[in-house]
Amino acid sequence: MESTDSAVMDKLVSLAKRRGFIFQSSEIYGGTGSVWDYGPLGVELKRNLRGRWWKAMVHQRDDIEGLDAAILMHPRVWEASGHVEGFSDPLVECRNCHRRFRADDPEIGGDQCPVCGSRDCFTEPRMFNLMFRTFMGPVEDAASTVYLRPETAQGIYVNFLNVLNSARQKIPFGIAQMGKAFRNEITPGNFIFRTREFEQAEMQFFVEPRTDEEWLEYWKGQRMAWIVELGIRAENLRFHEHAPEELAHYAKKAYDIQYCFPFGWQEFEGIHNRTDFDLSRHQEYSGKRLEYFDPVTQRRYLPYIIETSAGIDRTLLVVLTDAYHEEEVEGETRVVLRLHPALAPLKVAVFPLVRKDGMPEIAVEIHAALRAAAIPSFYDDSGSIGRRYRRQDEAGTPWCVTVDGQSTQDGTVTIRDRDTLRQIRVSANAIVEWVSDQLARPYVPPPPSARSASG
Ligand code: GAP
Repeated sequence: MESTDSAVMDKLVSLAKRRGFIFQSSEIYGGTGSVWDYGPLGVELKRNLRGRWWKAMVHQRDDIEGLDAAILMHPRVWEASGHVEGFSDPLVECRNCHRRFRADDPEIGGDQCPVCGSRDCFTEPRMFNLMFRTFMGPVEDAASTVYLRPETAQGIYVNFLNVLNSARQKIPFGIAQMGKAFRNEITPGNFIFRTREFEQAEMQFFVEPRTDEEWLEYWKGQRMAWIVELGIRAENLRFHEHAPEELAHYAKKAYDIQYCFPFGWQEFEGIHNRTDFDLSRHQEYSGKRLEYFDPVTQRRYLPYIIETSAGIDRTLLVVLTDAYHEEEVEGETRVVLRLHPALAPLKVAVFPLVRKDGMPEIAVEIHAALRAAAIPSFYDDSGSIGRRYRRQDEAGTPWCVTVDGQSTQDGTVTIRDRDTLRQIRVSANAIVEWVSDQLARPYVPPPPSARSASG
């Protein structure tokens, strides 16, 4: 199946709902098309993804500090950042059906409305600011206008000196944070790819001005290595360097990391050289000096910033798409999510082969031991063993433990591997240790023998 096949997206959306990864927001009211909710498995997958990012970007490094800034900020922040003036897309409206589109949307290239089919029906483009506005306090006037942040980065810039001084860091160093961002996109779509409420994982690395290009290359390498370590197939990843006309107003140079989604190559993370644009603007608008004093050279300067900016939801879509496989097993189609075990919402499922002869008791004990060790486990004793395996394959659970007749004799159980389908026998008492050991190992995805519907 071709990677451009939109059927793949339909299958993913359907699996995401069926297995409790992602639901449409406010579904019982007909849904809000551009916002999504994460269900029991989705929330675990998202938490694991966030945890992986935080581990690599904060816990494993001496030179990056964490931050959790508020969503609502002083409105001057967005004037300084350039968002009030320039964070806009060109919008046109169909005079016939009144639907609105981005003027640069390839779908309306032929001057025909993609909804009602009218020709030559579009209004002149006008710039539409993507920031959501609301009011702080009980008075709704211009003086009380605040914005829902369209990027988390500005919370880092305005805290640059607070973090530098309190954490006693020296340049070069970085500040990382994750959190919600909001954009009133004119044309959201493609499931969780482009939404109006989403999550970002951003890191701003403050460097000496003449070293910026080196650091940009360094962070390109680090971020690509991170995504490859999640088991994403390298042939589905590439860099895209921004041409001058693509560069954001703050960027001197920028690269996207793109993934080959079923709807084409698209960005899910950006690595940007933002120069001293943001700090110099905040210095100007706030009237506060934001320079760094270098104790070695005794020089004062405004640092340059190298930014790594990932969308958590978009990266999660990369993970789901790349993990989705369909393959023939014993004459039946098996749908399997080959998630990196560190990301998998459930690590183990435990089944008694039948609900009698002492098997449930052993299975319950294994399940309880896994839970006590904080290893997410699922107990399932309903349906045929084949159906139970299939349910866990769709959930991306790496290992299924089955308690059978032999278990009651010699205390061993089978462990079935999601990717290879191989089964081994292990002592029931050793399951927690066995799983912990597997989780500590690097994940090697199986060779692409059975090509998937995802590509
Ligand atoms: N601070 C820089 C910045 O925000 P961006 O390229 O506009 O840069 C960075 O956004 C990342 O945020 C994107 O690569 C994408 O993963 C995510 N993102 C941006 N807009 C999004 C949207 N409407 N829905 C989901 N994710 C979005």
